[in-house]
Amino acid sequence: MKPKTQPLFKTRFVAYVATSIDGRISLEKRKLPDWTSKEDWKFFQSELAHADVVVVGRNTYLSAQSRLQKRTTFVLSSRVKNTLKKGTVTFVNPACQNLKKLFSVYKTVAIVGGARVYQTMLDNNLLHELYVTIEPLVFGRGIPMFSNGSHTRRFELVSVKKLNAKSAILLHYRLKK
Ligand SMILES: NC(=O)c1ccc[n+]([C@@H]2O[C@H](COP(=O)([O-])OP(=O)(O)OC[C@H]3O[C@@H](n4cnc5c(N)ncnc54)[C@H](OP(=O)(O)O)[C@@H]3O)[C@@H](O)[C@H]2O)c1
Repeated sequence: MKPKTQPLFKTRFVAYVATSIDGRISLEKRKLPDWTSKEDWKFFQSELAHADVVVVGRNTYLSAQSRLQKRTTFVLSSRVKNTLKKGTVTFVNPACQNLKKLFSVYKTVAIVGGARVYQTMLDNNLLHELYVTIEPLVFGRGIPMFSNGSHTRRFELVSVKKLNAKSAILLHYRLKK
């Protein structure tokens, strides 16, 4: 009998979100949040240093273009036919590409948002862990963390950490199987 080919490793898909208490990730479409704590930024940067690739949507890419160009970045967009590579940045149309196959060559994929990207990855079973930093703010408006989902998913809490004296909290969740 022919042996089954096993992948070298199972890709780990980890999402990072900074949010207000009321679940908003941004007040604007194309601007890096300026309300997150330096402790969250430090955590986020140390995590990205261990990731093989970063996945973002086109709005997030446009809000952090120069930073993201320093990393291997995949940008989800409906504006490309299939994939379009520009240096370290690859634009991908999820409607034309098998995302699981595309990312299977990487060990760790950091999902950096925004809302549609978190949702797309979750809907495709490509979001296994979630780090949520809750900053002590209520916006009452703005972009939600996830949007236009098709079904409910359950997570289990791995850890809770108080990030600073100003009440920023870091939650780590794992998708429940
Ligand atoms: N607080 C946080 O942790 C955090 C995290 C990330 C981003 N942000 C902020 O949030 C804002 C952007 O968020 P956002 O939710 O508006 O935008 P986003 O997810 O970054 O970008 C949305 C765009 O990406 C493309 N896209 C995403 N998923 C797609 C899919 N499945 N298929 C095809 N195209 C897809 C589409 O662009 P096309 O028009 O090209 O198709 C869509 O209009 C920015 O200000 C950013 O700085 C905050």
